[in-house]
Amino acid sequence: MSEVIEYSEKVMDHFTNPRNVGEIENASGVGTVGNAKCGDIMRIYLDIDDNEVIKDVKFKTFGCGAAVATSSIATEMIMGKTVQDALKLTNKAVQEALGGLPAVKIHCSLLAEEAVHAALWDYAQKKGIVIEGLKPPVNDIEERE
Ligand code: FES
Repeated sequence: MSEVIEYSEKVMDHFTNPRNVGEIENASGVGTVGNAKCGDIMRIYLDIDDNEVIKDVKFKTFGCGAAVATSSIATEMIMGKTVQDALKLTNKAVQEALGGLPAVKIHCSLLAEEAVHAALWDYAQKKGIVIEGLKPPVNDIEERE
């Protein structure tokens, strides 16, 4: 029997009215990650200028409400930031910004963190640069705290 999951108002807001949905043509970096267990997939597009500032962010998420909400707020949190600052986005920060997530939905916020990292990785690959502290993307995000 599945239990009722309660979401914060902020989660519901970003789920019902997600920000920055879509694609960026010729994006500086694109990152796609998924979770094999729930089957949810998240893709983040970054437009990064010559000063390494993120000028635009878009996302496409095929997943649960929490995945939509976390990707939506993650795009807001890295918009206008430098690559280095975007790299510091953690799933914990995403959860806090959303006013918390139910324990069974923690992995959804991990998808957001990992999708941003994967997009930054793609950007670095395309530019032939190394972003300090950035690890290669993982394609399957496992459940972890
Ligand atoms: Fe898997 Fe939310 S249930 S991303």
